[in-house]
Amino acid sequence: MNSIYVGQNATNVLFRSLFQRLRLKSFRKVQTRSLFLSELVPSQHKLSFVTRDHEEIYKKSIQEPGKFWGELALSKLQWITPFTKTMDCEMSKGQHKWFMDGVLNVSENCLDRHVQRTPDNIALIWEKDEPGTHETVSYRELLKMTCQLSNTLKNHGIKKGDRVCLYLPNSPLAVVSMLACSRIGAAHSVVFAGFSADALASRIMDAGAETVITADQGLRGGKTINLKQMVDEAVSKCSGVKRVFVMSRTGADVPMGKIDIPLEKAMSEESNECIPEPMNSEDMLFLLYTSGSTGKPKGIQHSQAGYLLYANLTFKHVFGYEPGDIFSCVADIGWITGHSYVVYGPLSNGATSVLFESIPTYPDPGRYWEMVERLKINIFYGAPTAIRLLLKYGNDWVEKYDRSSLKVLGTVGEPINAEAWYWYNDIVGEKRCTVVDTWWQTETGGVFLAPRPGPDNSMPKPEFATRPFFGVEPVLLDSNGKELVGNNVSGNLCIRGSVPGLARTVYGDHQRFLETYYTTFPGYYFTGDGALRDEDGHYRITGRVDDVINISGHRLGTAEIEDALDYHPDVAESAVVGFPHEIKGEGIYAYVTLKEGAVIKLEDLVLQLKNLVKKEIGSFAVPEIIQVASGLPKTRSGKIMRRILRKVAANDFHDLGDVSTLAEPSVVKDIVDEHKKLMHSKS
Ligand code: WTA
Repeated sequence: MNSIYVGQNATNVLFRSLFQRLRLKSFRKVQTRSLFLSELVPSQHKLSFVTRDHEEIYKKSIQEPGKFWGELALSKLQWITPFTKTMDCEMSKGQHKWFMDGVLNVSENCLDRHVQRTPDNIALIWEKDEPGTHETVSYRELLKMTCQLSNTLKNHGIKKGDRVCLYLPNSPLAVVSMLACSRIGAAHSVVFAGFSADALASRIMDAGAETVITADQGLRGGKTINLKQMVDEAVSKCSGVKRVFVMSRTGADVPMGKIDIPLEKAMSEESNECIPEPMNSEDMLFLLYTSGSTGKPKGIQHSQAGYLLYANLTFKHVFGYEPGDIFSCVADIGWITGHSYVVYGPLSNGATSVLFESIPTYPDPGRYWEMVERLKINIFYGAPTAIRLLLKYGNDWVEKYDRSSLKVLGTVGEPINAEAWYWYNDIVGEKRCTVVDTWWQTETGGVFLAPRPGPDNSMPKPEFATRPFFGVEPVLLDSNGKELVGNNVSGNLCIRGSVPGLARTVYGDHQRFLETYYTTFPGYYFTGDGALRDEDGHYRITGRVDDVINISGHRLGTAEIEDALDYHPDVAESAVVGFPHEIKGEGIYAYVTLKEGAVIKLEDLVLQLKNLVKKEIGSFAVPEIIQVASGLPKTRSGKIMRRILRKVAANDFHDLGDVSTLAEPSVVKDIVDEHKKLMHSKS
């Protein structure tokens, strides 16, 4: 026995049980329904956990992924027709096929099977923007609404394979919209309601969506957002949109045009029953647009069975979810975190999921903790940027509320610095909760690195996402693609081998999918992040190694912001980099050069550039600092040296590297001088 860990034991027991079965049994025919997980282990059963078990289960999951995932897929998901072959994956082709020929329906897995057993259990607690107000939705009610909307969509001609764009506030009808799409076999493409009309339009067009679901208005932190107006503007640029369903959030009297349909009224006329569409495991479940280092955002396409299984298992085991727990992930459903840990992970487990519509500082910085006390939240999952913001307001806002219900605190989206980690652990969690720093991506579908399940939390390790989930094999490669073996190394974080949750393709552009993720390091999935592996074999994410920046956990490609800036008639060229920001993690710093003969007042230019970014992408992408530069540092082949620009933006003028290879080395001195002048004028 290496070490013993007591606590959150059901999770551990489940996996020990799983391992024993995997070890003791030769693999049965996959059609046989297996009962080896929760069905066999009462959750109140308390046993100790041995490190060795985790390692052995993990080893098994890597050595025999087909057996491992095949058994789990049969026991955790409800199939209409069981699959005949567990996996057919080829990393070099970016090909991930799991649970082939299997037929199932995701909404049935999230709703009907729970309604049969526990219809009155609460599925959603909608924490509304209005402080202190929440509404609950039972599984029975959620199924009823989902069927009504499914029938509405079908009656308007939406069918299997169609793409439906959702531009909605965090609300039960947003979840219902996602589930209704999955029920009828349409793919949803949720666009975060902070994106501009132009950004929305480009996503609608790329997906070829004929249907949009939106709301009259959204509410965030007491402010109204004119969602319908944004959609009208977007739709005016997309001739392919045939219908817009409009949910009532504030009841505002918004203009309704020929293609607009009041959502609640249409639903009320429909039956409460809708037979779920049989879907193949590998059919598309949803698209989610995300930024990369080049080009326009891409529609990351996820599968039905592989995605659902991975969201289901990681939800349960990374957070140590036990039946009856109240789980609160405060992410917006417009991001992957909202998809996997507000909707699909919790609901497929029959859990109670809090749907948070507001912001952490409204009406005051005690919002989260007042909600924890009122709703008796057991597991809270948030972003480092919010934690950093709240710690600035002091401990009183936390300590005035009872947080004794909390047992697990999660973070996601960006590196969490030690100060924020300790504050979360010591003040919010009173040193008795488990802090789980979870690393993953839109492309991975669910958590890939986290200090769970298992005993790592006996030794908290701030800033470390620690170790891989079962079935995930991280590797670190140097820039030549050579694997860095052993510990105390850092390099490009890649994944060897397929995992059911991984994205299947970029919608409509498999070549781009291959080029982005599978060609830099042939044979591996390349994450775009750097990581180090310490002496214990634990992983710490060191940040993106490509031109993606992470603003308050929102992922943005520098190229997207540059594209927006370049629209300005006076701008010749632009280069955008991230710089360290106390609260947001990274801030946006833009360098622009002007065309010959441009005559414009500096403050007008800055204002116009900010407005351009707001219009093209959204307010959250507006650069904090814009520097008008006389030139940009470029290599002789014309490539902008962002490394230098990043250092200058961070006020780090030492070791700018060898500038002699630049086409015009003197540009660097000019940029540094201009930067210093700008900073001086701001202080
Ligand atoms: C970053 C969010 C450090 C990372 C689920 C990744 C993190 C990108 C962490 C994906 C973490 C996410 N520690 N960095 N725990 N979690 N990231 O697609 O750079 O919005 O590549 O998915 O966020 O962002 P995305």
